[in-house]
Amino acid sequence: MSVIIAPSILAADWGRLHEQIREVEKAGADWLHLDVMDGHLVDNISFGPAFCESVAKVATVPLDVHLMITRPDHYWTRFAKLALNITIHVEADCDVAATLAAIRESGCKAGISLKPGTPFSRVEPYLDRVDLLLVMTVEPGYGGQAFMPEMMEKVRAARANRATHRRDYRIEVDGGINTTTGHTSLEAGADTMVAGTSVFAAKDMAAAIRTLRGE
Ligand code: DX5
Ligand code: ZN
Repeated sequence: MSVIIAPSILAADWGRLHEQIREVEKAGADWLHLDVMDGHLVDNISFGPAFCESVAKVATVPLDVHLMITRPDHYWTRFAKLALNITIHVEADCDVAATLAAIRESGCKAGISLKPGTPFSRVEPYLDRVDLLLVMTVEPGYGGQAFMPEMMEKVRAARANRATHRRDYRIEVDGGINTTTGHTSLEAGADTMVAGTSVFAAKDMAAAIRTLRGE
């Protein structure tokens, strides 16, 4: 599986959003990661469907939508037209299996995510029906936090699960990813990396993305 780098728009300068999207795409971004937060599932409110539509209008790479919201079952359809992937949280207050199935039926790829305090065993029952597992490597809600190395245990468990059951979901890490922690994640088995601060604050975005990719 080739490594995918998904810069998080949360860390972009929204005052010049269009320009930042162009810059990061030119620098080699494979996907753009969109962090939707509702102030319930996580302790922050970010942006919703209208903002994502603005991004979709100018983006030339696929959009990776991360719904950190309590009711993804109610809201996911509003992102369906613009997203490649829609990832929901296992901690959400809804029928997770049914929501994942509906996302897939719509033609989008379905992802499941878990917070640092949630054990890997909680997502295991869904791994036969997802395209992506997103392992949070910080407490979700804010960019710019420190990577939690102990989450690599979940990444290794996912890699083993995928091999044992011959599955092909991507293993994505999200939070505090930079050149050092990105390398740690790749070694543990991640193949997809979200990076906000480390890409958007970099002097040379292209170099930052190349290094994250392990090149
Ligand atoms: C955290 C979000 C992340 C965040 C990552 O709640 O899910 O996608 O934007 O930002 P950095 O890379 O700055 O930790
Ligand atoms: Zn995210």
